[in-house]
Amino acid sequence: MAPKNYQLTDSATGKTSDLPVRSGTIGPDVLDVATLYRDHGVFTFDPGFGVTAACESRITYIDGDEGVLLYRGYPVEQLAEKSSFMEVSYLLLHGELPARKDLDIFVSNIRHHTMINETLLRFFNGFHHNAHPMAMVSAVVASMSAFYHDSMDINNPRHREIFAHRIIAKIPTIAAAAHKHSLGQPFVYPRNDLDYCSNLLHMFFAVPCAPYRVDPIYAQALDLLFILHADHEQNASTSTVRLAGSTGANPYAAISAGVSASGGPAHGGANEAVLEMLEEIGTADNIPKYVAMAKDKSSHFRLMGFGHRVYKNFDPRARLIREMCHKVLAKLGRSDNPLFELALRLEEVALKDEYFVARKLYPNVDFYSGIIYSALGIPRSMFTVMFALARTVGWVAHWQEMIADPAMRISRPRQLYSGPKRRDYTDIAGRA
Ligand code: SDX
Repeated sequence: MAPKNYQLTDSATGKTSDLPVRSGTIGPDVLDVATLYRDHGVFTFDPGFGVTAACESRITYIDGDEGVLLYRGYPVEQLAEKSSFMEVSYLLLHGELPARKDLDIFVSNIRHHTMINETLLRFFNGFHHNAHPMAMVSAVVASMSAFYHDSMDINNPRHREIFAHRIIAKIPTIAAAAHKHSLGQPFVYPRNDLDYCSNLLHMFFAVPCAPYRVDPIYAQALDLLFILHADHEQNASTSTVRLAGSTGANPYAAISAGVSASGGPAHGGANEAVLEMLEEIGTADNIPKYVAMAKDKSSHFRLMGFGHRVYKNFDPRARLIREMCHKVLAKLGRSDNPLFELALRLEEVALKDEYFVARKLYPNVDFYSGIIYSALGIPRSMFTVMFALARTVGWVAHWQEMIADPAMRISRPRQLYSGPKRRDYTDIAGRA
């Protein structure tokens, strides 16, 4: 079949050129505009990158119209039901589901890298007790680039693998240390005899003066939440990691940039904002008032946890987390959780409202996740840290894919300039 292309004609000059079309395995084709400036002297213009493919990737695919999410081709629903966060992490990093021995080696590598340098632990003492955990986590992750000089050649595949193991293993320890610092409690060291999520719960909730037993229901709930948050194509924080990494920056610094980007309420910070919104709404009879505010542009209020740049159908993760809410709350004997009931009612009202229907605004991954984190005893200030913790493996997978690509070059977008034309400096004496 003849290669497809689009013909572009400059209506002012009649100049025509062919822009090649490239196809992936699934999903929309892309129009290669690399020759546009050379042949026509113009840039493309797409603020927010709504229709811009910034890279080619083989990791995750989203069909926003159908509500489909695939990790290396596997539906997230199947992985949520049958896999584990460690196995999904291996899949995202290596591209294939592991054989038993490969998974055992991977899990052992992660389990034996969970401690952080003692001097890094002391960094937390520099933060005020009420520092937001996201600020602490992004700062301490960035500080990791001051260590490990022995294995930081980003062009060395083995060094890239060691980095991946270290950051995936240590991010829970850093998250838990931030939590303990906020509480004024002593840090709890990781244990090699616990699985990834049980270790996190132990570091979060154990105290030196009493034994702590991890509830397997809690660990299973976290494992599922981490699978659902592990990766999501070129979202804002992943794109941040790619852009920062494209300069050849230290990979810990690139991941730290991703942590920072994920904290915004329009992105990973929405899970914390949803709980604040639900508590502000308070009761179901206040829902109409808040839905009206969300429809009134002058209010600047948005229904947090609703809407998505790509999903114009139900976010499959939101559906799975809503189902998990029912199960976890029932197992914990809290089926009558008022915030969950309010969230269900808010979803029901919004999805019948023409404003939301017309704009295809559905609950996203952040709408229900905070309710489960709350039920597990995780404080609201830590919700976005949980998002970043789970997404770390996705950030690493995309960083590795980019660095290993021989065609990789520094990311440097252009602009449409609308500032002042050239003008000469005037002395202050001559200014009005
Ligand atoms: C995540 O990209 C990813 O993949 C992200 C993520 C991941 O896993 O990495 O999925 C995680 O970040 C999920 C999104 C979490 N954020 C929120 O829940 C915050 C609330 N939602 C939004 O602010 C908004 O929906 C975004 C940021 C998620 C998407 O914004 P877009 O794509 O830029 O959409 P938009 O702002 O252009 O909105 C389109 C219309 C506008 O109305 P009109 O101008 O057409 O009249 O929909 C309206 C918006 O005002 N709108 C909302 C709304 N979201 C969009 N109105 C009320 N409440 C909302 N939540």
